[in-house]
Amino acid sequence: MKYNKIKKKFINFFKKKHHKIFKSSPIINKDNSKLFFTNSGINQFKNFFLGKKKIKYTKIANIQKCIRITGKHNDLKSVGKDNYHHTLFEMLGNWSIGDYDIKKAIKYAWILITKIYKISKNKIYVTIFKGNKNYKLKKDNETYKYWRKFVDKKNILFFGLKHNFWKIDNFKLCGPSTEIHVDIRNNKNLKKIKKEKGYNLVNKNNKYIIELWNIVNIKYLIKNNKIYKNKNLLSNNYIDTGMGFERLCMILQKKESTYDTDLFTLIINKIEKTLNIKYKINNLQHDFLIKLISDHIRSIFIIFYNNILPNNKKYGYVLRKLIRRCLIYTYKILNINTPFLFKLIFIVYKIFYKKLITEKLIKIKNNLKKEEELFFKSIKYNTKLMSIYFKKNKYILKNKYINKKNILYVYSTYGIPYFIIKKYAEKYKLKIENIKNIKNII
Ligand code: ALA
Repeated sequence: MKYNKIKKKFINFFKKKHHKIFKSSPIINKDNSKLFFTNSGINQFKNFFLGKKKIKYTKIANIQKCIRITGKHNDLKSVGKDNYHHTLFEMLGNWSIGDYDIKKAIKYAWILITKIYKISKNKIYVTIFKGNKNYKLKKDNETYKYWRKFVDKKNILFFGLKHNFWKIDNFKLCGPSTEIHVDIRNNKNLKKIKKEKGYNLVNKNNKYIIELWNIVNIKYLIKNNKIYKNKNLLSNNYIDTGMGFERLCMILQKKESTYDTDLFTLIINKIEKTLNIKYKINNLQHDFLIKLISDHIRSIFIIFYNNILPNNKKYGYVLRKLIRRCLIYTYKILNINTPFLFKLIFIVYKIFYKKLITEKLIKIKNNLKKEEELFFKSIKYNTKLMSIYFKKNKYILKNKYINKKNILYVYSTYGIPYFIIKKYAEKYKLKIENIKNIKNII
């Protein structure tokens, strides 16, 4: 099933269930919480739950673009290394604001994934909140009872706060959640891995057991780490759900990686052509690079699309950081030090939008190219400054050795990554300290 059809089926399903369909809100989070970017579907509906704003609709669904690069939910480090974490993803969500309860939310989710998307029932595991003594929260037996109508006892598991209680600092709303996980092992890949029972692998970072849908029963408020009831949330009928779109595509298209779905194929093809490398031909470094760029360029595009330009502050800084990560890794792995990201913009655009807004796109493309040029120019200039520093440094001159202190100085003063310092050392026949144990220096 192609990604457009998957989206359409989701929207049509909830339309038929009388949900109002909302547009994805801007990626820039406008409320005064410390949250930088919109990081889940509920962000734009938060004040309706809190009773601060009146809403005409009590049943809502949407497809929300989310970025998780900063704060507690930060997936940046996993990107490129695994098969399913992304800096930007789309979240399919439905909400009940004082309308239906958890029982109905479970029923909707079950019908959608088993009848509409036809995920096989025996591949589904469900997790439920087991309670927490510190917060005086009870085991969620009610949710267990509902799930038992559809799911076998052995495929229902209980977990604690970490996995089955949704709370974000500063977000105020929280509650126990129930999650749907899908086993994507098939006859082909089952041979490669241990024939372990799927329910033993849930929440163990196993790449074949995929966390798909989080259904939260918003029951409480949280403030200063205290959880309490609130008059606006007295019934059980406050539901917040979120399903990872890229992961859903991966499951329905029977792939082992989100990067192998049609959401990424065109972007990856374009990267292959632009950098003259190939994906998945047994070069792990190239695979890492392609995954990283194909992920980051989606975020880069969407941040630009929200009228942010690269700079040293807040959103602009995150944008700059993503662009530089792509350029630095490409320079390091392929020795390419010329702009190329701007060439990917048109392809990325097509994944997210149907209507072509040429003028805006050209602007984004030009601004991205400018930022890439600026980066290489500053690397060149700063490398010169580094060279002057090394040539004047008595310790280096005497010992013909660049130590950790010198490396850190050059990195923090001129922003020169380790691999460039290493290249310099090789050129001038200097020894250099191995700094494997220093994090964040590429
Ligand atoms: N808001 C919930 C989440 O982000 C659904 O997982």
